[in-house]
Amino acid sequence: METDRMKIPPMGLDKHEILEEMRVLRDQDIAWEDNRAFSLVFHHTDAHTEFLKSAHNLFFSENGLNPMAFKSLRTFEHEAVRMSANLLNGAEDAVGTMTTGGTESIMLAVKTYRDRARKLMPWIRRPEMVIPITAHVAFEKAGKYFDVRMVHAPLTEGYRLDLRAMERLINNNTLALVGSAPNYPNGMIDPIEELGAFAEKYRVGLHVDACVGGFFLPWAERLGKNIPPFDFRVPGVTSVSADLHKYGYAAKGASVILYRGMDYLRHQFFVYVNWPGGVFASPSMPGTRSGGSIAAAWAALNGMGESGYLANAVTVLDTTDRFIKGIERIQGLRVLGSPPVGVFAYNSFDKRINIYAVADEMAKRGWHIDRQQKPPCIHLMINPGHAKIVDQYLQDLEDAVETVRDNPHAALSGSAPAYGLMAGAPMRGLVEKNVLDMMEAMYGPEGKSPDLQSKDGKSAIPAPVMAWMRFRAGLARMLNI
Ligand SMILES: Cc1ncc(COP(=O)(O)O)c(C=O)c1O
Repeated sequence: METDRMKIPPMGLDKHEILEEMRVLRDQDIAWEDNRAFSLVFHHTDAHTEFLKSAHNLFFSENGLNPMAFKSLRTFEHEAVRMSANLLNGAEDAVGTMTTGGTESIMLAVKTYRDRARKLMPWIRRPEMVIPITAHVAFEKAGKYFDVRMVHAPLTEGYRLDLRAMERLINNNTLALVGSAPNYPNGMIDPIEELGAFAEKYRVGLHVDACVGGFFLPWAERLGKNIPPFDFRVPGVTSVSADLHKYGYAAKGASVILYRGMDYLRHQFFVYVNWPGGVFASPSMPGTRSGGSIAAAWAALNGMGESGYLANAVTVLDTTDRFIKGIERIQGLRVLGSPPVGVFAYNSFDKRINIYAVADEMAKRGWHIDRQQKPPCIHLMINPGHAKIVDQYLQDLEDAVETVRDNPHAALSGSAPAYGLMAGAPMRGLVEKNVLDMMEAMYGPEGKSPDLQSKDGKSAIPAPVMAWMRFRAGLARMLNI
């Protein structure tokens, strides 16, 4: 319904009241400051955040679109890229740009491989990239945007990438391979050295998605963790994405995309010389580029220093270890694969413990839980602050598991059936259509709140699928299968 709030007020409102209203709304969001959420926010210390805000504010109005007007920002970007390339063992001729985040870095890499092939490999008519099924969804997005087919390599035992399957998928249309270091869904690092050997053998590119690990794995390695080489040290690696706004502890809107040399990066650039607005050149996707996030990223790298990153890595590694050991001690639960750093997922191997019902129980105890599918599991990404809440989390988890084990109906109440059905529903096209309908409701004129279990028929799960899955679940329980 249209209200006055949907129109710009005729006169500016009281600034204190505006801020107060914003605070009220913010208080209804997840309270990440309590360390009860495990994604979306990366936090070093409150003092560091204040420092980032100061750096951001200094360049609040500046625009990285024009490096001639704002040479300061060009300096920050250049130095941030060089620091990142050095950290990831790029040679002197490694190059790159800053971007607004992991998704943009990945999208640019895909576009770059496509455009380079258009120039140098005209025989490639239907470009493809071979990616592990656990590669970040941004590759699918890039594939859709840039018309590059993403071909999926499966996993084998222990949630490891199936290298033989990956090799079999390489063909004459392959632009590049992808490996993650580590991947998002289960935190495993793909075997980058082996992928590098394929890249050299078949003369294709290799992009390493180190959005999560780029500013973490080097420190873990220095601390003596057994991290297989994943960066430009590996022959065959042609590009790496690494997010400053994750374990680089920068402000949001900051990542880098790096290439082994200018031979790749030049295909990322956009130049158009016939626009009435002037000859236009741009290194990445946006036009206007936020000066604040470029400046804050440079400030973060310098403010943290090696000592800051190392100290955080110690805490995150230790905290992850405590989480993983604690979860594996709880009967019926197991961690997926053998994730080496701060990202992992766990599920249940006990039929009586529905993991989505466990997630609901944890939510009731005040935790913000990330649910995943294929297989159904719970996902965590560890920050230094989580060191304070590990014991409480594990205690609540043990309680939650017991509650679910004792209640055979747990999987049929709360949001568990919705997640379960969405993950298991056979008609993926129908699920996709319903999710699109939900998005239309959310971004339509009424701007509805997102809700998996909405009562107005805009559920993510089509009603017939829901009915069938409920029937199947009921039958399975009756027959105890
Ligand atoms: C491995 C990996 N790559 C890429 C991304 C995308 O990053 P962003 O959300 O900054 O676009 C993520 C996000 O979590 C990720 O985990």
